[in-house]
Amino acid sequence: MTFTADASDLTARRPSIDGCVPRHVAIIMDGNGRWAKARGLPRTEGHRRGAEVIRRIVRRSIETGVEILTLFSFSSENWSRPATEVSYLLGLLRRFVRTDLANLHENGVRVRVIGERDGLASDIRALLEEAERLTCDNTALTLVVAFNYGSRQELVDAARKLAEDVAAGRLDSREIDSDAIAERLYTRDIPDPDLIIRTSGEQRLSNFLLWQAAYSEFYFEPALWPDYDKDAFDRALASYAKRDRRFGRVSSQAAT
Ligand code: IPE
Ligand code: IPE
Ligand code: MG
Repeated sequence: MTFTADASDLTARRPSIDGCVPRHVAIIMDGNGRWAKARGLPRTEGHRRGAEVIRRIVRRSIETGVEILTLFSFSSENWSRPATEVSYLLGLLRRFVRTDLANLHENGVRVRVIGERDGLASDIRALLEEAERLTCDNTALTLVVAFNYGSRQELVDAARKLAEDVAAGRLDSREIDSDAIAERLYTRDIPDPDLIIRTSGEQRLSNFLLWQAAYSEFYFEPALWPDYDKDAFDRALASYAKRDRRFGRVSSQAAT
């Protein structure tokens, strides 16, 4: 499997979508289980097929000039699934890093992982650290893998760090502002997502990037994740290009 994008696109970093390309796209990859069930297959087969889709979307992100792609791959709440499914998902992450890391690196992808690392098996922690270390200087795309990620826990941890900094005298409580919170999140050096896509027709965040999504645009895609493809991704980017992001202001067209 290769991520090699069309060379002319890569050289020029020219978006192939009309209009404005979102700098940061985050995807809630949902519907693997339903995809498998509809075919009489085990849920794990849906996850296996879903992992293949990731390769296509990484490639398309590079081609279209998206700078950051965040993928929600395992939530803190997903531990409550059957043990066999959880261990399959952990195995899939191991396999993905082992088989795809060299290729991601060759294609200039920088890998970042967000989520709680403490509860993870030590071999997985080591693999994730290796992926981040190897690719840290790459610039074609930043691939942020949200694994064992839960936004409320991330905010709770940030609140605790603030409290500790105040108690230790490193921070005056009057200095606490939104930057002080953002700097204590996993995403401290990653800009907020411009566009959040969720597949499978569900229309909820499921504890994903609650703080960071304050002004994100949303795109709900009916296709199940294993059926998701480049054309569906392009449709989301095209929809984004038509949005009027106001951030609380009056639209630029209406300002006169
Ligand atoms: C998304 O697919 C993958 C993960 C949450 C790990 P699901 O497994 O949630 O699939 P559905 O929603 O049950 O169809
Ligand atoms: C969100 O999907 C988590 C991931 C895509 C990794 P879920 O399938 O876990 O979310 P709910 O349970 O439908 O809200
Ligand atoms: Mg789901």
